[in-house]
Amino acid sequence: MTTRRILVTGGTGQVGTELLRSRWPSDVELVAPKRGELDLSDADAVAQYADSGGFSIIVNLGAYTGVDSAENDVLQAWKVNALAPAALAAISHKQSVPIIHVSTDYVFDGSKSEIYVEDDCLSPQGVYGASKAGGEQAIRTGNAKHIILRTAWVFSAHGSNFVKTMLNLATQRPTIKVVSDQRGCPTCAADLAEGLSRVINKVLEEDFEAFGTYNFVNSGEATWFTFAEEIFRQAPTHGHASALVEPIPTTDYPTAARRPANSRLSNEKFSNTFGTVPRHWQEALRDVLVALSK
Ligand SMILES: NC(=O)c1ccc[n+]([C@@H]2O[C@H](COP(=O)([O-])OP(=O)(O)OC[C@H]3O[C@@H](n4cnc5c(N)ncnc54)[C@H](OP(=O)(O)O)[C@@H]3O)[C@@H](O)[C@H]2O)c1
Repeated sequence: MTTRRILVTGGTGQVGTELLRSRWPSDVELVAPKRGELDLSDADAVAQYADSGGFSIIVNLGAYTGVDSAENDVLQAWKVNALAPAALAAISHKQSVPIIHVSTDYVFDGSKSEIYVEDDCLSPQGVYGASKAGGEQAIRTGNAKHIILRTAWVFSAHGSNFVKTMLNLATQRPTIKVVSDQRGCPTCAADLAEGLSRVINKVLEEDFEAFGTYNFVNSGEATWFTFAEEIFRQAPTHGHASALVEPIPTTDYPTAARRPANSRLSNEKFSNTFGTVPRHWQEALRDVLVALSK
């Protein structure tokens, strides 16, 4: 039996950790170089690594995800979020293998009042979103055999995310002010990893043709305020500290990068193509709160 090798970048991140935990057929080997083995800001090294590995598919989860720090770290953000994807797209194209790339809701400016669909116009508001939009474009033009999976508001039991920040703040103060005028779709990293596994397995089938851009988020939507309220509604059941949440407008919580007021993503295209509807984020949140209580 020939082993199918899958290159996974960003394997130490929230999504990568969950993807590496997933079950895989015995002929699949996941190769996930850590930062010390492969620096994603070095596009030449990225190309060389991808070219020499004999990979059947490339999955790019590595990213510069510091939305605010990117504003003052422009070159590094573009190297990791756009040049590395460009290198991976070029090599995967050269080797005639597919590439799967994860992107973000922050490629949109949030001015649309309805839910965002895949072919809405990109109009990022900050360096992170712009560099991720650049990465998307590099993938799209570099290798026709691509899947770009846009996600949003990722949370998990590991890494840095909103759920862990809220639980931590609740141990320090009784009331937390949270922005109530940005709407999005909280997404559990484990559920996204499950979606990615499904995509990878489909793409590895020889007759797969549905390449293109997809959204993948958990069902439901929230503002950061209602997300926090739900965290603290569930928190005591799982032994975590709770806090009162007070809604504030974005103008009362200035950040280096502007964020979209609406970045809700539609799952419809993903569900129709890959045959699964992601569960509600509140249900996924329970699993993460349980994991964090162990
Ligand atoms: N987090 C969110 O809310 C969110 C929302 C929308 C889209 N996304 C997208 O989803 C994907 C996965 O996000 P995530 O939440 O799993 O991110 P994460 O937890 O921040 O992980 C980022 C990963 O990229 C790696 N990385 C960053 N710079 C690197 C470099 N120069 N060289 C090598 N590795 C480097 C990190 O390695 P280290 O562990 O060594 O730092 C880590 O493995 C990304 O494409 C992100 O843009 C995330």
